[in-house]
Amino acid sequence: ALVTAACMAVAYFVCGIPFGLVATRGDGVDVRKAGSGNIGMTNVARTVGGKAAAATFAGDMGKGLVCMLLARAVVAGACFGGDWSMLVPSSPFALSMTLVFSCCVLGHVFSPYLRFHGGKGISVGFGAGLGLFWPIGLGMLAVFVAFAVPSRYVSLGSVTAAISLPVQCALWGMGPAALAPVTVVACVVIWAHRNNIRKLASHQESRFSVRHRDGA
Ligand code: G3P
Repeated sequence: ALVTAACMAVAYFVCGIPFGLVATRGDGVDVRKAGSGNIGMTNVARTVGGKAAAATFAGDMGKGLVCMLLARAVVAGACFGGDWSMLVPSSPFALSMTLVFSCCVLGHVFSPYLRFHGGKGISVGFGAGLGLFWPIGLGMLAVFVAFAVPSRYVSLGSVTAAISLPVQCALWGMGPAALAPVTVVACVVIWAHRNNIRKLASHQESRFSVRHRDGA
């Protein structure tokens, strides 16, 4: 339990790093004051440009993936005889992993470096989802693509992917204990999208766009 708690703390503080702000430092735009005001890849693309958006996604997704893979190795090594590749969906290992997963996403959404404000948790959740159990990460991506690409509403893909997360975990056989943290996280991510949901409902949501600037 101590090992899991340590991994949760590391995941929270590492995934609190807002790569959207790191990647746009030299661009003269504060993404928190432009476009949707979000620090994620979508708003960086909208207000800064494609390269910065790609860097934001790589950083936010990568931090989730790296934290989960490290936690998996550490927890498995300390408590499960080093079999770090296993995911027995209903085992205590799965609970440890979903607890760390939730800290990855919560670190990004309630960043300790931004007075507990942050992003909406999709890129980091995708990376951490791949590290949790890669078919679940790919499943989230598939749902995201199915809804976001035809509509060009990133938020529609994000919300549907979040809804699908606990469903996918349940389908892969996770027990109620391991499911609880992912369900809480899915609710938090949907809550973080509350303005997007309102705008989608009133047909005022912005579709995906990339800002093009001379020389940028
Ligand atoms: O995950 C964020 C995305 O769904 C929406 O971003 O900037 O349009 O609020 P944004």
